[in-house]
Amino acid sequence: MPPDPKGGIEMLLEAMTLEEKIGQLNLVTAELTESGPRVTAECLDAVRAGAIGSLINLWGPKLTRSVQRVAVEETRLGIPLVLAADILHGHHTIFPIPLGETAAFDAALWEQTARAAAEEAAADGLHLTFAPMLDVTRDPRWGRIAESPGEDPWIASRFARAKTRGFQGSDLTAADAVAATAKHFAAYGAVTAGREYASVDVSERSLFETYLPPFQAAVAEGVAAIMPAFVDLAGVPMSANVSLLRDVVRTRWGFDGVIVSDYAAIAELVTHGVADDIAEAAALALRAGVDIDLMGHAYTRGLATALERGRVMMEDINAAVRRVLQLKARLGLFDDPYRRGSQGGLSGARNKTRRSLALDAACRSIVLLKNRDGLLPLGAPARVALIGPLADAPCDMLGPWASAGRAEEVVSIVAGLRKALPGSEIVFAPGVEIEAEDLSSLPAALDLAHSADVVVLCLGEAASMSGEAASRARPDLPGRQGDLAAQVLGVGKPVVVLLASGRPLLVPWLIDQADAVLAIWQLGSEAGDAVGKVLSGSWNPTGRLPVSWPVDVGQIPIFYAQRVTGRPADPANHDTSKYIDLPVEPLFPFGHGLSFTRFALSHLRVRPDRLLASEELTVEVDVANEGQMAGEETVFLFLRDPVASVARPLLELKGVAKIALAPGEKGSVRFTMSSDDLAFLGPALAPRIEPGEFEILVGPSAKQETLLKATVRLSVETIVTL
Ligand code: BGC
Repeated sequence: MPPDPKGGIEMLLEAMTLEEKIGQLNLVTAELTESGPRVTAECLDAVRAGAIGSLINLWGPKLTRSVQRVAVEETRLGIPLVLAADILHGHHTIFPIPLGETAAFDAALWEQTARAAAEEAAADGLHLTFAPMLDVTRDPRWGRIAESPGEDPWIASRFARAKTRGFQGSDLTAADAVAATAKHFAAYGAVTAGREYASVDVSERSLFETYLPPFQAAVAEGVAAIMPAFVDLAGVPMSANVSLLRDVVRTRWGFDGVIVSDYAAIAELVTHGVADDIAEAAALALRAGVDIDLMGHAYTRGLATALERGRVMMEDINAAVRRVLQLKARLGLFDDPYRRGSQGGLSGARNKTRRSLALDAACRSIVLLKNRDGLLPLGAPARVALIGPLADAPCDMLGPWASAGRAEEVVSIVAGLRKALPGSEIVFAPGVEIEAEDLSSLPAALDLAHSADVVVLCLGEAASMSGEAASRARPDLPGRQGDLAAQVLGVGKPVVVLLASGRPLLVPWLIDQADAVLAIWQLGSEAGDAVGKVLSGSWNPTGRLPVSWPVDVGQIPIFYAQRVTGRPADPANHDTSKYIDLPVEPLFPFGHGLSFTRFALSHLRVRPDRLLASEELTVEVDVANEGQMAGEETVFLFLRDPVASVARPLLELKGVAKIALAPGEKGSVRFTMSSDDLAFLGPALAPRIEPGEFEILVGPSAKQETLLKATVRLSVETIVTL
């Protein structure tokens, strides 16, 4: 346990005035200007008066030190500040957006990039990040899908653990550790119709089976903070949700860290229509267990009145302040408030190790969606026409949460391709802008297409079109990019399409007509080099889709773990669960992703085939590289419980394994499962295992037809309640 403040937290609490206590619960923002963060004189005065306990958007060793010095030396009690920022996928060195990085299906990588981000953030004087974002989402209209680990709760839970470990390290007091925040609790990914900030109304079962597990995993990993989502859940805003924040998070899960509101979310309880004034909003949030008010100014403006009215007790305020002081102690701030940032920053994103990690992460995030007749890798074409508004758009490679990342430090696609194909002439034209209507530059781009051996079309979204407040009712190609693509395809040259976006883009016609298509998301600092490596063949793609890729908006929400229904889709039977105008299947299933080589899976072995509740199950499958190139295959392990007291999903992910194989080489992957993996939430939402048969399905994606299947019988006499 790190040292407490002199005399301990309790003595400090005793010594505090009500204003000072409320100050500790108040988190405000510094100013983020073009040239970086800055603090105003008013903000410094408020720190001096003890009216601010934490700040966001302030970094840099000198600046953070000078502001911290005011808190430590010029306030009555000398309590240090917590300095926070949104470090989602890198601070100076920018890694792929979380959705992209999830496509790597590699927990070790997720942890390493969080570690590297924490090192840079801490070296810049930061203590707390508002990450990882753990909202399972099945709706690409929602812009924040870019920040999320995709559609699957099992993967999101692994992501939660890896990121928490990576940010916090093994010792939160260390000079390179930052406290993590699991956000946005919970079910924000299920906003109505994908519309940002809209109401959420999911069943208790979905909540406990799908949306809460990643948060529970983060808590089990020791995450320091949780941020409730902006939204209401069936009418109860998350910032005032007693039954989830107190009963589930604090009591059931034993979470003793801080709960920090989202931006102005406490004040917005008035707008939600559950509080009639700011004092009541403050009371509702505090009573639900929200310790820190981020930019709502609700605690500073309303808590004293709420206390006078008897809507909160001093003990509620003390409990929140105690948790904030404990966070400061856990971070080692009472011991040495200047430990982070004291070595000078790691700015400039020039550090070789972190750049090479960013390149590795970017390579692993790229998903090869299609490769007709093995067009890729490109070999050595004489002339490549690189066309499209995203080909030279470094800023848009950074994604929506780029922290201190700078466009000047990003390798653009055009630069990366020139480096990767030194023997080819790369000619470039944007053709159109990302969003504008102007078509005047299109003819020049078509001329280039005519003159080339192969065309690489780099299309997609601006960074600002995903992330917060970036819902798109039609998540397809914005502006006139569709016209550009159609005309370039009309030229008749082989076409590779790079889709640079924060979400699956719904352009089935383009994917159908192009020869090769890659999802390159927003890959960060090393975007261009990673794309260059894939197109030239020096990296054989390994990325897999962490979300089902819909054919059309009408299929949303779409995810692999659907239930079978009483009338499963049957093309020969009209009265079954399907559309009359669209397929039921996504364009690409969860887990889809091609390689330049070919793998075959065979000989699924599951042992034993009759299992006692206490036993382990071993699942093994052979994998052969049948192509001409070394590569890495990803193998997914799914479970299906065909008969249970509650209808179970068609598939539930229970494991992911990777295997690297030389051409012609054979190997096998092995998973172990315990009977706990066969458990589910029974009719009363209590976990239990029911006897009977289970199907074990193993394959390269969630596409049913590609899965190998074995059956195992669980021989328990009765239901086992866990
Ligand atoms: C976002 C959070 C973020 C916070 C602070 C909010 O608008 O929803 O994800 O952590 O701002 O920047």
